[in-house]
Amino acid sequence: MATQTIPKSVKILLGIAAIFMPIFLILPFFFWGNSDGSINLSEQNLQAARLQPVGKLVIGEPVNPATSTETAAAEFDVEATYSSTCAACHATPALGAPVLGDHDAWQARLDSKGGFDALYESGLNGVAGTAMTAKGGANITDEQFRQMVEYMLENSNVSY
Ligand code: HEC
Repeated sequence: MATQTIPKSVKILLGIAAIFMPIFLILPFFFWGNSDGSINLSEQNLQAARLQPVGKLVIGEPVNPATSTETAAAEFDVEATYSSTCAACHATPALGAPVLGDHDAWQARLDSKGGFDALYESGLNGVAGTAMTAKGGANITDEQFRQMVEYMLENSNVSY
């Protein structure tokens, strides 16, 4: 007989599968239903699902140019700019530049200019006949250069 060719172990496995199959078929109905356990396949719901657009256009927050400039300014790394640009001349007195941390040198410059704004503007435009070109040759905005001068003074313990 054909049934005798099926090993007993296979029959047992099939038997177990036969018992569990309905459970797997029925279980989802408990989970897919509403919170009260019922399945909500109403006409309206099915229609709503069919009418769902294929893609939804999400209109995000418009980018505010003012805000993004502020972000850029906030991200400006004063310390890194000093190291990459200003330090070449301002870390040593060799070129005649006031050295970062030299309180007396920076205080004297602040005094001779008569204030922060004048000192800032001098650096912004460059000091004619010296190695100090406009903005020290840095590719930064005026506002960022202002921050650089503040950094110089603060790190030289000069109040302005
Ligand atoms: C190529 C060399 C060089 C670089 C780079 C440089 N400086 Fe200078 N800087 C000088 C020299 C030299 C002086 C002194 C000029 C003088 O004799 O009045 C000076 C002076 C200054 C002064 C004072 C100006 C005044 O009128 O007394 C400021 C402020 C200043 N630098 C800021 C900066 C900042 C900020 C940076 C970097 C963004 C920078 N410098 C990069 C050489 C340099």
